[in-house]
Amino acid sequence: MLSVRDLTAGYGAVTALDGVSFDAAEGEITAVLGANGAGKSTLLRTISGLVRPSRGSVTLAGLDLGTVPVEGMAAVGLAHVPEGRGVITELTVEENLRLGALGRGGRVGAADLERAYSLFPILAQRYRASAHVLSGGERQMLVIARALLARPRVLLLDEPSLGLAPRIVVQIFELVQTLVRADGLTVVLVEQNARSALSIANRGVVLNLGRVVVSDEAAALAGNERLRHAYLGF
Ligand SMILES: Nc1ncnc2c1ncn2[C@@H]1O[C@H](COP(=O)(O)OP(=O)(O)O)[C@@H](O)[C@H]1O
Ligand SMILES: [Mg+2]
Repeated sequence: MLSVRDLTAGYGAVTALDGVSFDAAEGEITAVLGANGAGKSTLLRTISGLVRPSRGSVTLAGLDLGTVPVEGMAAVGLAHVPEGRGVITELTVEENLRLGALGRGGRVGAADLERAYSLFPILAQRYRASAHVLSGGERQMLVIARALLARPRVLLLDEPSLGLAPRIVVQIFELVQTLVRADGLTVVLVEQNARSALSIANRGVVLNLGRVVVSDEAAALAGNERLRHAYLGF
């Protein structure tokens, strides 16, 4: 579904990604792992057009994303949930949710909201509350739900577990699995929490200093003790 080839990008003189290639298969979760500074967020930003590569390409179902402006990514089926859980705290939960449909023309049907609320009951309970009052876990659910309102085929998630209690991390990861099973969504999951990410992923890609160290089936990565100690922190 998503094919990354020789992707190279950076910031001025800093090369943050250096010849990265991998595929994310349809209906699968591909975990992108690696230490702080490895280039994980830059990889997602380059896939979604926020950073333009100096070399290489990304295709989504055969479409070269290099030809798509950043504001056109939602319409071709790509959604990016950046790190940091950026909700608009002056708006209600539902107003934040509705923003998710802007990229594909702006109309939110009752069915879209119903589906979001059935996946995330906690948001249904608080739909008229100010997003300001949400906990970190609830904000993470809101930004994922908002991304889904664009009805993406590929969802890029950047560190959804960062700073959340283990119980909440489990909930969020279970939700991601549900989405994949129910909709055939393709997910690229960036995580420093490699152990949890590999427990739900089909495959994993390990980055170090902007390069792919290894990509393999999730179970093979989790079972590789040397790799775990050197790059995955567990
Ligand atoms: N906006 C930026 N300007 C300059 N350098 C950056 C910027 N964002 C990230 N970098 C650098 O790019 C490299 C990769 O960073 P990043 O993609 O954020 O890694 P990760 O998400 O794996 O922690 C790091 O060396 C980081 O310092
Ligand atoms: Mg990052």
